Amino acid sequence: MSERSGTPADDPFRGRHPTSHERMTGLPWDASYHDGPAPWDIGRPQPAIVRLASKGGFTGAVLDAGCGTGENALHVASLGLSVLGVDVAETALAIAREKADARGIDVEFAAADAFQLERLRRRFETVLDCGLFLDGDERTRYVASLTSVTKHDGTL
Ligand SMILES: C[S@@+](CC[C@H](N)C(=O)[O-])C[C@H]1O[C@@H](n2cnc3c(N)ncnc32)[C@H](O)[C@@H]1O
Repeated sequence: MSERSGTPADDPFRGRHPTSHERMTGLPWDASYHDGPAPWDIGRPQPAIVRLASKGGFTGAVLDAGCGTGENALHVASLGLSVLGVDVAETALAIAREKADARGIDVEFAAADAFQLERLRRRFETVLDCGLFLDGDERTRYVASLTSVTKHDGTL
């Protein structure tokens, strides 16, 4: 797989660099959501996130980086916090928005690359990351990206 493939119209990566996971599998993240739930999608928030939330682990504006179909973001938003979930997988985002509508939960979901969070032009007090699957130099790029959207003393 090339780093950037095809024209803008047929580029499954929409101009961004494929992640290490996408290069390894040969598929864009979005494909994980095409044939039913992805293996990590348990249809409810991850127990660790529920525990963390119950102990006050989320404060202020919250960013869920790599939110998938949104269960974690929806849980935190249901507690009254302001939450933006971002992902590169449009199919996952569509499912997340449907759940938010069906449950009447006020939460935002948007397409964004975790390596280019500065494009959001927003700041968050807490960033939730549940399984972005980063490798090698991606971690360094991710930290730089996180720095651009976290407030001083923010929590990841
Ligand atoms: C293992 S899944 C976890 C999804 C969700 N956090 C959960 O707990 O169910 C990783 C998610 O991160 C997203 N992702 C991977 N790389 C990303 C990137 N560079 N920017 C935004 N989202 C990304 C994938 O599309 C996928 O939805």
